Amino acid sequence: MKSKIKSSWAEPYKMKVVELLKMTDRPQRLKSIKEAGYNTFLLKSEDVYIDLLTDSGTSAMSDRQWAGMMLGDEAYAGSRNFYHLEKVIQTLYGYKYIIPTHQGRGAENILSKALIKKGDIIPGNMYFTTTRLHQELAGAKFVDVIIDEAHDPASEHPFKGNVDMDKLKQVVEKYGAKRIPYVCIATSVNMAGGQPISMQNLKDLRAYTTKLGIRIIHDMTRVAENAYFIQQREAGYAKKSIRAIVKEINSYTDGATMSAKKDALVNIGGFLATNEWDVYEEARNLVVIYEGLHTYGGLAGRDMEAMAIGIEESLSDEHIRARIGQVEYLGQKMLDYGIPIVLPIGGHGIFVDAKKFLPHLTQDQFPAQTLSAEVYLEAGVRTMERGVVSAGRKSNGENYYPKLELVRFTIPRRVYTQAHMDVIAESINSVFLRRDKIKGLKMVYEPKYLRFFQARFERLK
Ligand code: F0G
Repeated sequence: MKSKIKSSWAEPYKMKVVELLKMTDRPQRLKSIKEAGYNTFLLKSEDVYIDLLTDSGTSAMSDRQWAGMMLGDEAYAGSRNFYHLEKVIQTLYGYKYIIPTHQGRGAENILSKALIKKGDIIPGNMYFTTTRLHQELAGAKFVDVIIDEAHDPASEHPFKGNVDMDKLKQVVEKYGAKRIPYVCIATSVNMAGGQPISMQNLKDLRAYTTKLGIRIIHDMTRVAENAYFIQQREAGYAKKSIRAIVKEINSYTDGATMSAKKDALVNIGGFLATNEWDVYEEARNLVVIYEGLHTYGGLAGRDMEAMAIGIEESLSDEHIRARIGQVEYLGQKMLDYGIPIVLPIGGHGIFVDAKKFLPHLTQDQFPAQTLSAEVYLEAGVRTMERGVVSAGRKSNGENYYPKLELVRFTIPRRVYTQAHMDVIAESINSVFLRRDKIKGLKMVYEPKYLRFFQARFERLK
């Protein structure tokens, strides 16, 4: 098969500092993964060679960001770094009121508490683990209104993050607009494989929700990556900058939660943004209980400075092209080997279809968890399960059985090289060649919340 690898995505930066890695052998890795209960979250990072667990908080900061850290104003209240961050968010993202939080879920907690009443319904374009849990803990029920194609790993729909407007209308008819405080829209839908939502869909959604007086709250964790796909795929956007596209996306929404640990190129941080004074006031009251004063929200001054600079860097066209170019390079190599992956290739990583990879395992034998453990064993590459374990249980105790049973190879930003991508592709191929002999897992410990983080497994005989 002829490969479609593009060779023109070279990085717009060079290396000034490197971090040495520990190399391990197979017996060491077997011991480590057993001790970790076959859960890659429980591995020690120093036992990992290439860490693709997440793109969250794992970016390499630039020299400008590190220099910014030295400009931290560590005052308890009114740090100048807060005002810098506020200005950057207002100018580049276009939201009015900003509250920093320690990371994304801190913002989700406050937003859910500020807007949700018991019995409310939150429609959204697929769930995210922490987002949905905060909505549920605040008393709401989440309803998935993403298009069906998003649940089909093989569908090559260019905007698998789109909302199905008919599904949304049915939810509104069933429950009434009064019970829907907001529609929760993620850009670059993580659980669907980093799939984008189109500008047209956002416009349709805005027109519809405005009529009903329903807000749109934007999970903008990976908004720049979404903007890149709009630039590449949507008519009328090829000549627009990432900056302009991001600002237009945000303009169709009323507020946002952000984990700055992804797109915004920092190791810690997040924020909540809103255009409504009342919501801001309530959130500002809540933030002091859960995070800290509203001008630091659980962050040091230096963290806010690094975030302000990171946001600016993340919106450069050259940055995002190299970023997604690297992800596409890896995805194409896997396709060349015949590995079943979610298509189209998403923004922040490659999602391997574990049901297709290990068709002899049932979902109760945790195919994605199993595959993730095998990939570690093969070459010290750490990935993450995004399937039945991540989906967790419903409030009545039954398991959610998601259609997607995936292993996520998430690529940290500005961290690994093209040769690392080659090693990753070669190691998953080695596992692919011995896939028939791979046995599943059973869960032997299950935590109450977000079980994928700490669950433990044993290999089936
Ligand atoms: N929303 C999305 C879409 C996310 O991907 C995450 C985190 C959050 C919210 C929560 O943000 O971690 O800063 O509290 N995703 C990480 C991941 C954990 O690996 O995908 P947080």
